[in-house]
Amino acid sequence: MNQNLIFTNDVEAAIGRLTASRDHNLTVVIADVNTARFAPSRENLIIVADGDAGKTLEAVCHVWDEMERLGVTRHSLVINLGGGMVCDLGGFAAATFKRGVRFINVPTTLLGAVDAAVGGKTGFNYHGLKNEIGAFAPASDVVISTRFLDTLPVEEIKSGYAEVIKHAMLSDRNELLRLLEHDFDAPIDHAAMLQRLRHSVQVKVDIVTRDPNEQGERKALNLGHTVGHALESLAMQRGKPVPHGYAVAWGLVTEAVLSHLLLKFPSEDVHRLGQFVRDNYRGFPFTCDDYDELLALMRHDKKSKDGEITCTLLAAIGDYRIDQTVGTDDVTAALDILRDLLGM
Ligand code: GLY
Repeated sequence: MNQNLIFTNDVEAAIGRLTASRDHNLTVVIADVNTARFAPSRENLIIVADGDAGKTLEAVCHVWDEMERLGVTRHSLVINLGGGMVCDLGGFAAATFKRGVRFINVPTTLLGAVDAAVGGKTGFNYHGLKNEIGAFAPASDVVISTRFLDTLPVEEIKSGYAEVIKHAMLSDRNELLRLLEHDFDAPIDHAAMLQRLRHSVQVKVDIVTRDPNEQGERKALNLGHTVGHALESLAMQRGKPVPHGYAVAWGLVTEAVLSHLLLKFPSEDVHRLGQFVRDNYRGFPFTCDDYDELLALMRHDKKSKDGEITCTLLAAIGDYRIDQTVGTDDVTAALDILRDLLGM
């Protein structure tokens, strides 16, 4: 996948160079209500609602209407300035307007920087299903920084950090152990965090380069997400949504337990991860009475086939196995152990 990644905390200079160096007739910025204040200008600014709930067809139509009004052509440049939602929605709107306008992503959240902005997945939610409509369409350039992180609530940082942990679990035990030392109460060390992001994003880039359209290996990036999505969906259905990364963190622990049960993933690593998640990702809202609903959601996951539950599992840190079928009893046992590790 051909994406130019720029790691810098001088975001304005990077955007300045990207907009100056290309032959565009017009530059348009798409931002949400929170990130619009970071836009270089009030002109040619398209603002959408914030949050995943705003990732709708109506919002895509609004962006297309605004692009038309502003006179965007195939020779224009779109800058998506925001979290994962803006990158997903703005990327889709740009990739489809007049059959494709070049766009760059400037993620303003940790989750956006390590996941949504990189790898070419764009789209929106439809009929209550997350990312049901979309296309693989990579941003030409991605400006990755820690520049905006101080403006975010700690829950938002923790949410993105779960994906950073996921990338380390897929690649490098030493990096994982370093990450599990992190103290979310301490002020952000921007230089160190930018270095963490460089490492984390590279894991995704390496996988996506080998399998851009998720025919096989890219499914490794779903580690933690079969269980995580079920937890996130059930919490949402009950009107008590949890941050995506919290559900992923709980999903990572559960799938690490499943990896231990089925592939002998070391119990020491399950415990280290479990301890970190217990200390930092509080508020797990489920009991054993919820297992049937959770199992049903896992069976209906996009990634599952023939009603079986499939996950990416690990034989060891960095040794991932995609398309692993897991039984109901194993998932039930793993959820019990998760609740135990979380002290529930
Ligand atoms: N979020 C996982 C992927 O981009 O494949």
